[in-house]
Amino acid sequence: VSGVETDRAGRPVIVLTEPIAETGLEVLSGAGRVHVVGSTDLAALAPALAGADALVVRSSPVTAELLDLAPHLRVVGRHGAGLDNIDLAAARRRGIAVVNTPGANAASVAEFVILAALALARRLVPARAAFGSGSLSAQGSLPAAVVRSGLSGGMLHGRTLGLVGLGAIGTRVAAYARGLGMQVVACDPAVTRGPEGVRLGDLAMVLGASDVLSLHVPLVPATSHLIDASAIEQMRAGALLVNTARGGVVDEDAVLAALDSRQLGGYAVDVYDPEPPPADLPVLNHPAVLATPHMAAMTSDALAEMARSVASGVVDVLAGRTPPHLVPDPTEESR
Ligand code: 3PG
Repeated sequence: VSGVETDRAGRPVIVLTEPIAETGLEVLSGAGRVHVVGSTDLAALAPALAGADALVVRSSPVTAELLDLAPHLRVVGRHGAGLDNIDLAAARRRGIAVVNTPGANAASVAEFVILAALALARRLVPARAAFGSGSLSAQGSLPAAVVRSGLSGGMLHGRTLGLVGLGAIGTRVAAYARGLGMQVVACDPAVTRGPEGVRLGDLAMVLGASDVLSLHVPLVPATSHLIDASAIEQMRAGALLVNTARGGVVDEDAVLAALDSRQLGGYAVDVYDPEPPPADLPVLNHPAVLATPHMAAMTSDALAEMARSVASGVVDVLAGRTPPHLVPDPTEESR
């Protein structure tokens, strides 16, 4: 406690639940005393929170209970785009600013979406497993065995990509998909003029037109289970679904049922509800699912940019400046 009191009299105390890239830590160290707790557990965080002026988190929860442990907190920095892990209303009530890093990982996630879509379309996961199962070892040529084993896929070229959400990530995915020769359709209530070559419509149009559907919306009440059984029914039979947004945006039971009935041809999922998911979560073990551990943004490039961005946003707030990615207070916006 005495250490905390000393810090309170001097430089701001910046607490991080978990490490971030060096580039961000350097920016933070220039503005205050940095303390990386190395845990997302409330009890482990409590002593550091007692003296914290700023808190930087990744995707772990920032609840009202956590904020109550941090009486001096002025800013929460979210390393990443999504804000669903932060109780924004509680932060607002306390007058705590929230900053995030929209766009910082857009290229990294967009590349991953194309990777995932291609992996599903080309049956990469069952193809890799086929060596182990012995199904390719019969007489004849290997390419013929691929066809015989049902491992031949389809191209993305000439097919239609549907984007639910056309923010920084969706816009990048659209550009990359166009480079592959895909048609792109998208829906986003906040976008009235899309990028060149992207046909805008409502969700029903996008669902009905897509061979590959990729989700790029935040998890908010309006998007919770947006992709449910009735949405999936509106999709083309055998369409592929890619979810790098949030686990809660899809009704996972409906997705699994649609994979079993072949209404969906494959599901690539990088996000779960909750995270980390239990090892026996059915979606992790379904043969038509490419499941990855929230890694779309986990490139050295995006990690450096998210760290730099969140650090500079936090430092701006501590210095009394308005950061570029201050999360808006909806009550003020509606005034
Ligand atoms: C992190 O770096 O902690 C997150 O994975 C990135 O978060 P996002 O999924 O909200 O962009």
